[in-house]
Amino acid sequence: MKIKSKILIIAGSDSSGGAGIQADIKTVTALGSYAMTAVTAVTAQNTRDVKSIIPIPTKNIQKQITMILNDIGANGVKIGMLHNTSIIKCVYKILKKYKLKNVVLDPVMVAKGGTKLINNNSIKYLKKLILPLCNLVTPNIPEAEVLIGSSISNKKDMIEAAKLILNMGSKNVLLKGGHLKSKMICDILATKKGIKVFSKRKIKTKNTHGTGCTLSSALATCLSQKKNIVKSCKISLRYVDKAIASAPGYGKGFGPLNHLVSFNLRNINV
Ligand SMILES: Nc1ncnc2c1ncn2[C@@H]1O[C@H](COP(=O)(O)OP(=O)(O)OP(=O)(O)O)[C@@H](O)[C@H]1O
Ligand SMILES: [Mg+2]
Repeated sequence: MKIKSKILIIAGSDSSGGAGIQADIKTVTALGSYAMTAVTAVTAQNTRDVKSIIPIPTKNIQKQITMILNDIGANGVKIGMLHNTSIIKCVYKILKKYKLKNVVLDPVMVAKGGTKLINNNSIKYLKKLILPLCNLVTPNIPEAEVLIGSSISNKKDMIEAAKLILNMGSKNVLLKGGHLKSKMICDILATKKGIKVFSKRKIKTKNTHGTGCTLSSALATCLSQKKNIVKSCKISLRYVDKAIASAPGYGKGFGPLNHLVSFNLRNINV
């Protein structure tokens, strides 16, 4: 199989392999592209608990990225958690200088349990600096609520929120609906052409560790392979769905997905 494109991943490491850089590398590889990484933080975690988070100094993150871009280059970028203002400003300068394309931002702000992961000042800079340089931003509902400053409790609110976030400057917005309590999940895509709703059945499972990381990496990979935004969303959502459905059930908490699912799925359309 020929490698289709090169992806730069800027995100944190998850020692349990289910989310973060590890999930990103697996996703990019499983969907046919070449993964490169700039590690922003190292976490010690398993499927139940995050024990420690060690941030990497901004200067080192900058070096990791520029070493890659000055040599190999990238056709797409997946950005995960940027935990402080200094890292946000550093990534902003690099995105501008290298005119990077197909930038997908997973604006990680709120942990599964509801804990805020970045401070208000960082959110302000994420909105002002990074969002306008993105091809796609993929907030979940709590993150979208932080971005727009009001609450979201149904599909209608989600559509309004996606439009408001689109006006903040990202070319496209995919607002993930996994957090609403209902039997179906609606993911809302807002583009300059309008709104598209992707609906599917919610799978009853604990194996959802890293769904957001996996989805945003799949999107960056599809876009870098020159698939259009709607097709990229269809493939990526289907990949995540199948990866949840065939999860191996590792660990006693929120288990990882099966990133290898693309290998035996002809109709995933990669
Ligand atoms: N139980 C489920 N069944 C089917 N699909 C799911 C389920 N949970 C999540 N997904 C899919 O995974 C995608 C991302 O999930 P979610 O909304 O949970 O993002 P997230 O909160 O950012 O995830 P994370 O906890 O990894 O940060 C959603 O868009 C949805 O399509
Ligand atoms: Mg997330």
